[in-house]
Amino acid sequence: MFRALIIVLACCAACCAAVAQADPFAAPSWLYPLLPPAPANPSPFDKRKPLHVPQSRLSYTEAQLSDMYSAPDWFPQSHAPMPPVVTRGRAPDVYACGFCHTPSGQGRPENASLAGLPAAYIIRQVADMKSGARRSAAPGAYRPSDRMMQEALHASDAEVATAAAYFSQQHFSSHVRVLERSRVPRSRVVGWVYAAVAGAGDELLGERLVEFAPDAERHEHRDDNLMYTAYVPPDSLARGRLLARGGGVTAAPPCITCHGDQLQGTAVIPRLAGRSPTYLLRQLVAFKSGARAGANGALMRMVVANLQIGDMIDAAAYAASLESP
Ligand code: HEC
Ligand code: HEC
Repeated sequence: MFRALIIVLACCAACCAAVAQADPFAAPSWLYPLLPPAPANPSPFDKRKPLHVPQSRLSYTEAQLSDMYSAPDWFPQSHAPMPPVVTRGRAPDVYACGFCHTPSGQGRPENASLAGLPAAYIIRQVADMKSGARRSAAPGAYRPSDRMMQEALHASDAEVATAAAYFSQQHFSSHVRVLERSRVPRSRVVGWVYAAVAGAGDELLGERLVEFAPDAERHEHRDDNLMYTAYVPPDSLARGRLLARGGGVTAAPPCITCHGDQLQGTAVIPRLAGRSPTYLLRQLVAFKSGARAGANGALMRMVVANLQIGDMIDAAAYAASLESP
């Protein structure tokens, strides 16, 4: 049945490709919050002071927390023993996968969760990045994704296979709460995510999806227990549910057709439920803009062809809200 569906959809994909070309789609810059320029006078902050996060008895220094060849591991019980490429990488070309994606693969809003994804899917995505078929849709330089593309160029097939086998075996758990709001706190950017500025009041959200670190310090310390907060426009979740489950306004097939009844993913198709809505929305935008053009994404390019940014916000918000604690 799935194969028949693929044939039908692949036929539509050809016409949709024409639509996508006629209507180039620009990724919105609010989806890729950038760090402010580094201060001219570096702070006298002590890089050797031991730092802590709640519920962990370990400590790391600022210098250790910025070493990309060593994944900070605040909660060693939360995952199986890491293979060397995940915990250390291979200097000078390959950063530790676990530095960005976290040791248990839960990821952070500026990258992607990998826990529980099919190993073959992980391998294929890295191969697509290496060949250039999958790029970031960011409107300019965006260091987290740019570094991932470099990582894909330099990691060996064996390293990627080892990392894929490891991450696919880790248990996924949602790290985001999705809240519908028309107004959101005024924000600054810390570590590629939004954080509220105390006492600065609020502003209109408009047609955006913004993910906040409720505790900027814990985010900067790479605390992988931190729960993020995503703000989405009022009624997004109900509209997203229609897109996901059927009955929506567009002709796109409901997401559950392929991603599973609870959007939990299948043996070959990635999970959507509970993942960072920032990541999900970046990928929908990448399919739509043509930045993510791998062969296996043909079905997704057909799905997003008729979706506008508001629809994509709704779908990402709904998917992320599933399994949210
Ligand atoms: C510098 C940080 C960084 C490092 C190190 C890193 N990644 Fe990534 N990774 C990212 C970012 C950012 C993305 C999202 C890219 C995008 O689509 O814009 C990503 C995305 C991915 C994806 C796509 C996930 C999906 O659901 O499609 C895979 C797979 C992946 N990385 C595997 C790896 C592996 C394997 C390693 C180690 C060899 C690694 N990454 C190291 C930052 C990193
Ligand atoms: C006809 C099957 C099909 C339908 C329907 C479908 N998807 Fe997908 N989706 C896929 C496949 C296959 C992939 C993996 C693409 C690849 O390998 O590059 C994917 C990937 C994705 C990704 C990227 C995930 C990641 O880990 O990077 C997102 C986000 C996504 N889909 C969202 C949706 C949403 C939202 C809907 C409904 C509006 C939807 N999909 C409907 C087949 C489908």
